[in-house]
This record gives sequence, C-alpha cells and structure tokens, in this order.
Amino acid sequence: MATRVLRGPGAGYPTRPVPATREQAWETLTRYTQSEALLRHALAVEASVRSYALRFGEDEELWSVVALLHDFDYERHPTLDKHPQDGAPILRDEGYSEEVVEAVLSHAEHLAMPRDTPLKKTLFACDELSGFIHACGLVRPTGLDGLEPKSVKKKLKQPSFAAGVHRDEVYAGAELLGLELDEHIRNVVEALQPIAPELGLRTAADAA
Ligand SMILES: [Fe+2]
Repeated sequence: MATRVLRGPGAGYPTRPVPATREQAWETLTRYTQSEALLRHALAVEASVRSYALRFGEDEELWSVVALLHDFDYERHPTLDKHPQDGAPILRDEGYSEEVVEAVLSHAEHLAMPRDTPLKKTLFACDELSGFIHACGLVRPTGLDGLEPKSVKKKLKQPSFAAGVHRDEVYAGAELLGLELDEHIRNVVEALQPIAPELGLRTAADAA
C-alpha cells in the first residue's frame, strides 16, 4: 500500500499530506468490505454526498472519499463499541488526513461529535436517507423513476419497512442541512438515479 504522506527533501521538513483520491478510497473500501449490500450502500451515500458537494461548490473528490469510507470497517467492526472508532487508526495508517478521519467518525451518533462542517452535516444527512431511498427503489418495478417524496414519506411512517433505518436521523439530517424533507428526498433520488444499475435497481426502461 503506497503511503499518502510525502516527505520533504530532507530531515526536518514537515510531512505534506497528499489529498486522497476516490480511487484510493474505493481500493481501501473494497479491501475491507466484501458484502455487496455494504458496497452498494457506500456507492449510494457517495452519490448523494457528491451531489451536494457539487451543489454547495465544495470539493467533490474529498466528499466522495469520506462517503465511500464512512462504513469501510463495518464488516470488521459490526458493533458500535468498535465501529467506526476502531476504523480510525486504520485510516490514519493508510495515510488519510485528519479531515477525512474526523468526518468519518462524525457520522456515528454514539460518538456525539460536533457536525460543524458542511461535509459532516451532509454525510450525516445522506447516510440513512440514501439507504432508505435505495430500499424504496428496490421494491418498485420502475426503481427510482417516478419515486415522489410523498411516497417516501409514507414509507418512513411504516416502521416495518426498511426497519433498520433510523427515522429520527432522516428527519434530523434534513434539518441539519436546512432543507425541507421533500427537497432533500428529491435531491437524493436524483443523485441515485444515474447509478441505479450499480445499486441493483430497475428503471422505467426495464419495466417498459
Ligand atoms: Fe452508512
């Protein structure tokens, strides 16, 4: 594994972190994660977070890296006494910056870290909702095509549907972004549509 910290030309020079790329994050993720469901979750969160980076004029590559890595250690650390905190030293060893590590850690409710940057807010806001919208798309013959906020909100009120998704985090996420829930849902649906095949979703064209 190539290190992502370049050293200066001589002793005494400070280390100079090199920004990680999406490709590197994908490589790290797939080295630690075999589950197709988890990989699809990472891709869904990435697409949503990245669409907000574009919307907010932020660093799309950095936001992609953080989104892809946010659950990278979940297979290795499936319980909250380890995930994601025990993943942090691994990310540091892999050469990821503190900005990446801190943003990854901040998505975990139980760590109660301040979500004090647009990236942290967006990751939190997109995590549960991307999973939920993905689940909505999986049970529709046309996938995400034609999926309206109204029907997503109706499903949010059915506790048995995608029961693992924390509804309170979905609502809190939209609020954190300062968006109406309808708008946030629409944005995430739009962000996931282009990667529907990678997410195992059908489209209107398949149903025709
Ligand atoms: Fe997640």
